Amino acid sequence: MKGTILRCAQEMVVAHHPVGTWAAICAAAGCDADLKLVPQRTFDDAMAVSLLTAGMEVLELSPSAFYEAYGKYFAHHYARRLYPDVYEQSTDFVSFVAAVNHLHQRITSENDGRPPFFELVWRSPAVLTISYRSDRGLIGVARGLILGYADYFGEEVEVDQASETRLDLYFAEPPTNGEFVPSAEPEP
Ligand code: HEM
Repeated sequence: MKGTILRCAQEMVVAHHPVGTWAAICAAAGCDADLKLVPQRTFDDAMAVSLLTAGMEVLELSPSAFYEAYGKYFAHHYARRLYPDVYEQSTDFVSFVAAVNHLHQRITSENDGRPPFFELVWRSPAVLTISYRSDRGLIGVARGLILGYADYFGEEVEVDQASETRLDLYFAEPPTNGEFVPSAEPEP
């Protein structure tokens, strides 16, 4: 997996936690604390998962709390600085999420990336199901990033992880640019 996912975790820990916390996380994951997490470089998937899991353990956070903090840091700070152009393409949460597959392709196409894929289906005007397609088992990262970008764009939404591959988003208000298509079947 590309170093950018881990680099963001490192920056978040260094920004918000005491000196030595990142080294403790690396030690718990069995990694070298001096490892340079170059965003465009590919790192071993198992090592990436070990580092993220060690992050939760050392910070004493549940996976959802860890990834929620991660997602906010990614959306508000890390990606804004590293990928400022992606913030110019959308002015609202729904269109940003709808463009994520394209965004992933564009960001990773030049350096041989293998990003996840998301399938979006509107269940009702205020309920969106997002299916996560990846063999890395990082749906928690996806949930955290979705919540981070909802916070960034000021969208009020709850994200329920229904399974290892499915997230259900419940919007406080139906978004005007949602793409719910009512069923042709008459209501019973
Ligand atoms: C709602 C927004 C987003 C979601 C849900 C999302 C989800 C994810 C997840 C879950 C991964 C981990 C890899 C995997 O599971 O297979 C990932 C990887 C990645 N994401 Fe995103 N992401 C989002 C936004 C962004 C943005 C804004 C950027 C950069 C501008 C970005 C760049 C990347 C890159 C470079 C990778 C590494 C892919 C690879 O290793 O080939 N993502 N993303």
